Amino acid sequence: MSDKVLSQFTPEVKAEGPDTSRKLKIGIIGTGWIAEAHIQSYKNMPDAEIVAAADLIPGKAEAFMKEFGVEGVRFYPSHKELIDNEELDAVSICTYNTAHAEPTIYALEHGVNVLLEKPFTVTLDEAIAVMRAEKKSGKILSIGFQPRGDENMKMIKKVVQSGALGRVYYIQTGGGRRRGIPNSTFIEKSTGGIGALGDIGCYSLDCVLNAIGYPKPLTVTGYKSAFFGTNPKYATPDRFHTAEENAARFSVDDFAAGFIRLEGDIILDFRISWAMHMDTPGDSLILGTEGGLRIPSTDCWNGTFTKPMTLYHDVAGSLVETTIPLIPHRGPGLFDLKIRSFMDAVKNGTPAPVPTSQILYNQAIIDGICRSAELGREIELNIPEI
Ligand SMILES: NC(=O)c1ccc[n+]([C@@H]2O[C@H](COP(=O)([O-])OP(=O)(O)OC[C@H]3O[C@@H](n4cnc5c(N)ncnc54)[C@H](O)[C@@H]3O)[C@@H](O)[C@H]2O)c1
Repeated sequence: MSDKVLSQFTPEVKAEGPDTSRKLKIGIIGTGWIAEAHIQSYKNMPDAEIVAAADLIPGKAEAFMKEFGVEGVRFYPSHKELIDNEELDAVSICTYNTAHAEPTIYALEHGVNVLLEKPFTVTLDEAIAVMRAEKKSGKILSIGFQPRGDENMKMIKKVVQSGALGRVYYIQTGGGRRRGIPNSTFIEKSTGGIGALGDIGCYSLDCVLNAIGYPKPLTVTGYKSAFFGTNPKYATPDRFHTAEENAARFSVDDFAAGFIRLEGDIILDFRISWAMHMDTPGDSLILGTEGGLRIPSTDCWNGTFTKPMTLYHDVAGSLVETTIPLIPHRGPGLFDLKIRSFMDAVKNGTPAPVPTSQILYNQAIIDGICRSAELGREIELNIPEI
């Protein structure tokens, strides 16, 4: 019998790595700071072809691609022209927060899969509009929470799911910086929309809400302030502005806190800071009926873990503290994992790695904190089914 006949019964051994016979045509929308991480990761993917880029600032996308040595790219003055003129499999949307919703909706309406940078949006209404477009399109939309790829973050979820904590009833999360106000487009309401809340608060929320399965938030008492960003004494100068100018530009929050009631009678106590007179507003704690988990906060507010977690539990009647050793990161970086998991979902038609159905609740809390802070009272969250 010929080899050809026999080989049809031999199981095909799949080669390691992605299928490079099908390359994804990728567009980059917004070629600022975070787009650098996207482009570097796409360049590491043998099945990604970067074919187009757009930025509102004339010449910026061209200079960006030149810097990263990517050739044969077509350039456009905004997301609209890029999507209208290209046949794309996917776009990375790397625009500032207030320009997340519109390009995402436009891309989905034109049948393009989207990897959208965090935070999801600025307001809950925007997130709902994006999700409606997503549902109608049947395309993949994933939100760029790369700390999800960290093994220590996965361990928090594994501890909760193992039952070691019993029934979770109280969570404290957040953290932030003693000094660390970013500049650029982050500090103006017209571009950032929200400050520390959207920049690093969304990570702290995701860290614990993902671990406990994203229960629906019901009510929020929120607070936000901007005592540091608006004060020239604490504002930081940058290449284009003095400290005084940046203090005058500052129109978002630099500190925020919230007390949130979640479905399942769980309380979430949250605080986040770009600047304060304190080293940390506290560790993250997950309290359950059988155990408690302490996650050192100064390091994990943005998903970076440098200190081990501790599990507090009773063993044979004794109070025991078990150290959960830090898991060193091995293999591809978190950004490569984020891009790879998104591309795999697009190629295989599998669910988005970080689905909007979860991040909607993250956004609802952020939006709720802003609205409650403005009203000066607790508010109920009305999150529609989408
Ligand atoms: N995942 C992470 O680790 C991480 C880190 C930093 C920033 N981010 C997020 O990435 C986003 C961008 O941050 P950044 O620091 O790169 O901002 P940036 O201001 O440096 O870059 C944004 C760019 O988008 C362009 N832009 C805006 N609207 C556009 C449109 N409609 N079409 C084309 N281009 C448009 C702007 O001209 C600008 O060049 C923010 O939402 C931020 O929260 C994520």
